[in-house]
Amino acid sequence: MLLAIETSCDETAVAVLDLSPALRNSSEYLKADIISSQTKLHEPFGGVVPELAAREHNQNLPVLVSSALRDSIISVKDISLVAVTRGPGLKGCLLSGLAFAKAFAGAKGVPLLALHHLEGHIFASHLMPEDEQPVYPCLSLIVSGGHTMLVYIPCFREYRIVAQTRDDAAGEAFDKVATLLGLPYPGGPALSAAAAAGNPQCFRFPVAIPQDPASFSFSGLKTAVQRTVTQLKNSQSNKAAERQVLDKELVANLAASLEAAIVRALVEKSLVAVQELKPRSFLLTGGVAANKVLRARFAEVLAPLEVRFSVPKQRWCTDNAAMMGVLAREIVLHDPSPYAAWREGARASGMLGPGVRSAVSAMPKWPLDQLFHSI
Ligand code: KG4
Ligand code: ZN
Repeated sequence: MLLAIETSCDETAVAVLDLSPALRNSSEYLKADIISSQTKLHEPFGGVVPELAAREHNQNLPVLVSSALRDSIISVKDISLVAVTRGPGLKGCLLSGLAFAKAFAGAKGVPLLALHHLEGHIFASHLMPEDEQPVYPCLSLIVSGGHTMLVYIPCFREYRIVAQTRDDAAGEAFDKVATLLGLPYPGGPALSAAAAAGNPQCFRFPVAIPQDPASFSFSGLKTAVQRTVTQLKNSQSNKAAERQVLDKELVANLAASLEAAIVRALVEKSLVAVQELKPRSFLLTGGVAANKVLRARFAEVLAPLEVRFSVPKQRWCTDNAAMMGVLAREIVLHDPSPYAAWREGARASGMLGPGVRSAVSAMPKWPLDQLFHSI
């Protein structure tokens, strides 16, 4: 049994997975999958407060691990491997999870896998039924609150970055414009809910740097929306009309147009890369992949191409521990020998499993294509 812990940002998440190779579907091997959201805690501040988030993780972890063990109908002594997010993410938050995981693994004498958050997002797709999982070579678009990148994956755990954002991540653009439009926290889901009632063709926000296939850019969108709002306000002559600028219909139209611009930018660049790299599958993942319009648009444009489209279900797009667990499970099943050897007594002192020192630290910044250089 594997215990997985994810605390890179404001979600405390714990999962338990059965490591038996015979179990093929997540519905069989995923025994517990708990996500405790801190939305209420950070809402008054309009964004995640790192120190509060870290303190909350410290308080949540023992409680959530007990619940996860109860859900799985197992006890602490049944855990034979611990997996935890090492980075990238908020330093204090990563340290909370890592300290807990190290203490747990050290006390129980089981190995620890300290893993990359974005690799977890990629492996969230392995929680889906087999015919919806990506096949190699795969092209993946990872879109979250901190990252927007296209990654070419020729084979298991090899990552080549094809394109990334020069400034804001797509999720950040959703969040910032939501704040600008006075929508509730967290911005991304609120903006996409408001957009559902709007007209995406009402305003035409530009796709930045369309000629550069290796870069995304989203920082200009907030300014473009801000400028449009100001112009709309200026075109109204009296106070009542000014209030009208923020009426529901206008907010919905601005939200829908913004969402359409982000979707257009993501889809256009991804299609250029698909044409060039000719992957067998395309994987959409990360928090923004929970967006319904984005999912539907990718399904539509990829349908006529000979590319399998994979996208995790919404629960596993945003941060969760099941994705870190399935990554660890795949690593162990891919090559079980070091873990078996370690369990059988090959433990060196001060080691928390094969190659992992007890001094292993958080990596708030950790390029995905330097996965193995940094350990
Ligand atoms: O992967 P994630 O949970 O955390 C990070 O690793 O960053 O992604 C969070 C991001 C936030 O920016 C959030 O606003 C965005 O994903 N997001 C959405 C939706 N749900 C979450 N953006 C647009 N539409 C959504 N439905
Ligand atoms: Zn994430």
